[in-house]
Amino acid sequence: MLETKDLILDKAKFEDWEAMYRNVWRCPESARYMVWRVTEDASDAPGRMRRTIEFQKDHDTYLVYLKATGEAVGFAGVEQMGPALWEEAGICLGPDFAGRGYGKQILQCLVDHAKSLGAEEFVCWAREQNAASRALIASLGFVPAGAEERVDERDGSTYTYLKYHKAL
Ligand SMILES: CC(C)(COP(=O)(O)OP(=O)(O)OC[C@H]1O[C@@H](n2cnc3c(N)ncnc32)[C@H](O)[C@@H]1OP(=O)(O)O)[C@@H](O)C(=O)NCCC(=O)NCCS
Repeated sequence: MLETKDLILDKAKFEDWEAMYRNVWRCPESARYMVWRVTEDASDAPGRMRRTIEFQKDHDTYLVYLKATGEAVGFAGVEQMGPALWEEAGICLGPDFAGRGYGKQILQCLVDHAKSLGAEEFVCWAREQNAASRALIASLGFVPAGAEERVDERDGSTYTYLKYHKAL
């Protein structure tokens, strides 16, 4: 479990499928610049939560919970890419929970977490069109480290994926 001023990052619990469906998985705004597909029907959400729980067992990824209410409002995580290199593995908040400073708390928390595990360098990625993601990354002092052209597997469109890094 990881903790910030307002948030808890913890492994998913099955009973949170409804909050995740309502706050995140059904929201096209949240999925727009990521690689996952929206869950249209609430009846598909319990299955998605079972898959999430399985995935999180061997990945350093979490759901994001509001401390104030215990409600699940997003997901986030990191991945080790080299002996001292960690990468952000996607930060996502539901649209009602974006723009409140939570993204900044999460990214700082993930950087601190990686550092505690031995990271000396941390990498983030943002789609060029994702102004919120770029602003978040810049706000924590990351610097540009290149760009790649990627294909969005959901619809075959292409996008520029900007890479940023920070020495810890
Ligand atoms: C991207 C995302 C994680 C950012 O988190 P957030 O909680 O909205 O961001 P914060 O409120 O912590 O803001 C961080 C900084 O970005 C700025 N910012 C936030 N949203 C912005 C926007 N839409 N446009 C421009 N700047 C923005 C803030 O002003 C702040 O800068 P400051 O500290 O210099 O004032 C969040 O918007 C989100 O989950 N979006 C949907 C999923 C997604 O696209 N994830 C990124 C792909 S990995």
